[in-house]
Amino acid sequence: MIDQIKQPNSQISNGMEKIISLCKRRGFVFPGSEIYGGLANSWDYGPLGVELKNNIKQLWWKKFVQSREDVVGIDAALIMNPKVWEASGHVATFNDPMVECKKCHQRYRADQIVNLKSPHPNPPHKGEGNKREFLPLEGGGKEGVCPNCGGELTATKQFNLMFKTNLGPVASEESVVYLRPETAQAMFVQFKNVVNTSRKQIPFGIAQIGPAFRNEITPGNFIFRTREFEQMEIEYFVRKENWEEWFEYWLEQQKEWCREIGILDQCEFVEIAEADRAHYSKRSVDTEYHFPFGQKELYGLAYRSDYDLSQHQKTSGESLEYLDPQTNEKFLPHCIEPTWGVNRTLLAVLCSAYDESNPENITLKLPYKLAPYKCAVFPLLKNKPELVAKARSIYHDLQKNFAVSWDDRGNVGKRYYSQDEIGTPFCVTVDFDTIEKDNMVTVRNRDTKLQERVKVEELGNYLNDKIK
Ligand code: GAP
Repeated sequence: MIDQIKQPNSQISNGMEKIISLCKRRGFVFPGSEIYGGLANSWDYGPLGVELKNNIKQLWWKKFVQSREDVVGIDAALIMNPKVWEASGHVATFNDPMVECKKCHQRYRADQIVNLKSPHPNPPHKGEGNKREFLPLEGGGKEGVCPNCGGELTATKQFNLMFKTNLGPVASEESVVYLRPETAQAMFVQFKNVVNTSRKQIPFGIAQIGPAFRNEITPGNFIFRTREFEQMEIEYFVRKENWEEWFEYWLEQQKEWCREIGILDQCEFVEIAEADRAHYSKRSVDTEYHFPFGQKELYGLAYRSDYDLSQHQKTSGESLEYLDPQTNEKFLPHCIEPTWGVNRTLLAVLCSAYDESNPENITLKLPYKLAPYKCAVFPLLKNKPELVAKARSIYHDLQKNFAVSWDDRGNVGKRYYSQDEIGTPFCVTVDFDTIEKDNMVTVRNRDTKLQERVKVEELGNYLNDKIK
């Protein structure tokens, strides 16, 4: 019997070994529950990983919520009334086709191991039911046969991806609830409250960042596909007749985001065929990224029409119509949904930033805004108290405005390499001239490796100018 609990070793032979190793060695991502042998496909973000993840979320929130007049945010409960998921279609259709090996009991997504003649009829993951996503059969295995042991496979069953749990102490059909499989539904369910309180007029959007849960049959590829992950989503409400122009607008915004975080060169924007779209979508364009393990979905963009608002209006019996204050028309707005996965963003950012052109000096060329530390401060020599005291006062001063690292181990060259490996853009060294002569420090740039002298009192402005 295959252990569904422990972290399988096979998950790491996918071209990602060096990045996974750096993530563990330097504290970006650790295997979840490691001292107990791990938990299959669960990963914990370490001290640097949480900084990088928070920086991604903050950049997104600033760009798409705080810097705009037409988008407001919410932060909704993870567990919603189960009727939400009946109305949204997730109870009936958020399924993946599953087969199981009769011999070793390994389970697979049928569409990943059987070369289906027609695509998945109702793919819950848009773009993932079609042939682009099929995995090659490993070890020359035969189609329809277990790739693990060659055993016979069962007939295909539909497997609902929502995590079920029970509310309260009694586990019964009446107490069943689901962990949300997407953040989107809260934006539809709270549509009326948001309109009434924010007095936004369409076109406008509601944004949310938060966790989502899917009981994936075949999670894997490190943090690419996991059973819990975070999404950054916008439901942007427009008049029906304007959906096409807003769809193009949000596609451009997604491209611009990819440019800003340094991954655009490795992205493709792929129109999704009707048969492969999610049940709610009338048009979808996926952003796909060239990961070391293949070209895979990174983000989605969907025209959800008025599907969700009309389903919730029908099921709840509450009117969700929008009243246009200028024309007094009442109608259900249509919705364009750009969606971003936080964890996949982090993975793509790491893949694009990883530079081993000098194997002695692995460098993470992260965009400055995303780097976990903006700078590191060192005393030239650890055993000179006057250098250490000056360096520590600069360190504490910079910490008021930036994430700063302190390092006094080894020699300066080693500290540079160590900071390069975690993507710190600037290293600041305090030397004897700083305290005896000019109150200036040496600032060394991660990418150019060039050094310049900067006045201590100018350091904050210097970093601000470079990082903004
Ligand atoms: N509300 C629409 C929606 O949820 P989706 O394509 O199913 O659409 C959106 O998911 C994004 O969430 C994906 O583009 C991906 O970045 C991320 N995502 C989906 N499933 C994931 C998983 N199992 N692990 C990590 N990220 C996932």
